[in-house]
Amino acid sequence: MSFTVPANLEGEIDELISHYPVKRAASLMVLHAIQEHFGWISQEAVEWTARKLDLQPINVYELVTFYPMLRQEPMGKYQIKVCRTLSCALGGAYELHQHFCGKLGLDAHKHGPQTTQDGKFTVEFIECLASCGTAPVMMCNDDFYEGVSHAKADEILGGCK
Ligand code: FES
Repeated sequence: MSFTVPANLEGEIDELISHYPVKRAASLMVLHAIQEHFGWISQEAVEWTARKLDLQPINVYELVTFYPMLRQEPMGKYQIKVCRTLSCALGGAYELHQHFCGKLGLDAHKHGPQTTQDGKFTVEFIECLASCGTAPVMMCNDDFYEGVSHAKADEILGGCK
């Protein structure tokens, strides 16, 4: 598959790199810029980034696999993230996740993020969002929700046009 970085994005990345004493230090910023543009970080993007930063692909790949916010596959337009750490797990996070999966035709038992066939929704678990007293909590893209009932979940889905 061919992977092309548009000139304006490459210019932005060159500018980012110029702010660091060594190219490698810009790795995460470069990956964020790529993800913001393409929506995810493909194998080709990893290789391109490694060449850009004078690194081996493994040096970039280890970042992409370590940080959950860096995506290795295309995500849905709406990313639903349900906290599953202890307070939220006790507060109904697994049932909430199952509710979303049921509504969207996804398999609640499958590991990792799942995206609907139309590319509209991705549902996944994440770890503590530091609002343990208002469990269960979740995010839909950048919006944060507390004490999410199944009715509230339906309302959130309904608001995703
Ligand atoms: S356990 Fe869910 S916010 Fe902390």
